Amino acid sequence: MASNNINLDNYAPEVYLTEKEIKERVKALAETISKDYWPEEELLVVCVLKGAFMFCGDLVRNITLPVKIEFISLSSYGSGTESSGQVKLLMDINSSIEGKNVLLVEDIVDTGLTIKYLMDLFEQRKPKTLRLCSLLYKPARVKHPANINYLAFEIEDKFVVGYGLDYAGRYRELPYIGILNAE
Ligand code: PRP
Repeated sequence: MASNNINLDNYAPEVYLTEKEIKERVKALAETISKDYWPEEELLVVCVLKGAFMFCGDLVRNITLPVKIEFISLSSYGSGTESSGQVKLLMDINSSIEGKNVLLVEDIVDTGLTIKYLMDLFEQRKPKTLRLCSLLYKPARVKHPANINYLAFEIEDKFVVGYGLDYAGRYRELPYIGILNAE
């Protein structure tokens, strides 16, 4: 294959959470979720795109209850590293959550704006229960405190990418979470 001159040393972010650490933590979280909801009939997992796609995929693979999965797409960051302060609903779920056990799955709670918007929206739709599961939480940046029922990792105030999280659309495919160092 022809070289395209990308310097992979500059491309790869510094490892912050390894693939193994993530895998173990996600498995443990899925076990806790499975125990907490049992013996409820069914769990409706709502994956918040795009960032949560990888986390949600690994999480549901480890949950030992029947689940249904819906996808919702929101955006507040545009292409930069700072929240725009406005949440846009890009794509809604396409089934009713009324009377259901709903678990929202996010990749990160940063300022908390996105999840506040989503929790308010979903509360109005009268679910039986509504809980939040997040891969990451950055307490240093929070402006809208959220009750995260299931959290994988609390992290420092660094701009993280990988395992679903992006910078300007890149790095989502990395199997680990890394820090982008300014060049
Ligand atoms: C990111 C992330 C969360 C949100 C968290 O989404 O996936 O949904 O920001 O930030 P907040 O707590 O400050 O609101 P983004 O808007 O970047 O969209 P994406 O998931 O499609 O990358």
